[in-house]
Amino acid sequence: MNILEIIEAKKQGHELSDDQIRFVVDGFTADEFPVYQMSAFLMTVWFNGMTSAETAALTGAMLESGEQLDTSTLSGLSADKHSTGGVGDKVSLLLAPLAAECGLKVPMLSGRGLGHTGGTLDKLEAIPGYRIHMDNEEFLAITEQVGCAIVGQSGTIAPADGRIYALRDVSATVDCVPLITGSIMSKKLAAGPETIVIDLKTGSGAFMTDMDKARELAAALVKTGRHYGRKMSVVFSDMDQPLGRAIGHANETIEAFDALRPGHRQTAPQDLVILTEDLVAEMVRVAGVKPDREQSLELVREVWDSGKAFERMMSWVGAQGGQLDQERPDFGLEVAPLAFELKAPADGFLAKVNCREAGLALADMGGARRKVEDPLDLTCGIDWLLQVGDSVSAGDTVARIFCKDVPAATKAADRLLSALEFSNSEVKPHAVILDRLE
Ligand code: URA
Repeated sequence: MNILEIIEAKKQGHELSDDQIRFVVDGFTADEFPVYQMSAFLMTVWFNGMTSAETAALTGAMLESGEQLDTSTLSGLSADKHSTGGVGDKVSLLLAPLAAECGLKVPMLSGRGLGHTGGTLDKLEAIPGYRIHMDNEEFLAITEQVGCAIVGQSGTIAPADGRIYALRDVSATVDCVPLITGSIMSKKLAAGPETIVIDLKTGSGAFMTDMDKARELAAALVKTGRHYGRKMSVVFSDMDQPLGRAIGHANETIEAFDALRPGHRQTAPQDLVILTEDLVAEMVRVAGVKPDREQSLELVREVWDSGKAFERMMSWVGAQGGQLDQERPDFGLEVAPLAFELKAPADGFLAKVNCREAGLALADMGGARRKVEDPLDLTCGIDWLLQVGDSVSAGDTVARIFCKDVPAATKAADRLLSALEFSNSEVKPHAVILDRLE
């Protein structure tokens, strides 16, 4: 077998065999052929796509390039959720303890944020003492004891993805369904859960801005997951505006944990509540804890309202060394002081948000990374007070910006303002859940 023949075959539109795909992935990971040949291979895939069998083989080769967790030792049904990422997406912080309280085992491997999207791992680092790195044995022991654990994905999980993703980033081959599928599923399968629910976000703050492309990706993810024996389900959700009110690490963590307090399901930002309870209910239903969506949702609401999920969250964070002061509204997390209040420029209705720009406003203050190695300020953030369809009067506060550096906050405010479009006539609010694929 040789790499040139494989590139040529793919260029001519032929279906590659499992062995040929494995040869490419293993060879590139082991530096057996140069980067320019891998770039050419990726571009032929971008143009000619991959069949389901090829996508499954690509996923398998990337999965087997690294370590895989053995979740068979866990005593219950295991389930996980993957979000394709967005602005203000703190769902995992509520979902893991809720799902654990519903009887599932939730071993979550999480990543960092890049560009306008935030990562769960960065949010967890805002908690004093929280350990994001531990060996697999301890990770699984906490998952077994507490029901959930969230740690950083180490370099030993799907290392081929790390190398291939870096090359895709600089060869215009990121936006390619089979390559995205291999990348996401190799990492998710490595964590070993039996059930995987995907939160596939679409809109201006999402990775997939277009619903047709999102559907194509969803179908490929489900097919690949099922090929590897997983139970799969996809929820399509709106990312045309930030999720919840908080954007930024410490303040998103506070918003998520506060929403879990008993009685707060009714008062927390409803877009966050609706999406979280839906995704947890989907995990519960698909894993087989409850037979249908209604009973699953009922169970989720019961453990949320009783305060049991809140207690479970405290146990999980404590088990990973995190120190939370539950008596304080901010749980003892450090948040930067208020630096700037953004005012509505005129009367009207919020018609549109360029959600990506809202995420980049956080980067202006050092709260998001433009490059992987950028340091992060976990204390700065934005309180986002408006949702599409809300009416405002000129001078109303539409966002509060928290930052130690006032000039940086002012720059972020300018960006935020240019991200908003107002209308004189009424605007329909956005639905949170757009569709499903089961
Ligand atoms: N997220 C991933 O992990 N990989 C991709 O290719 C795209 C989004």
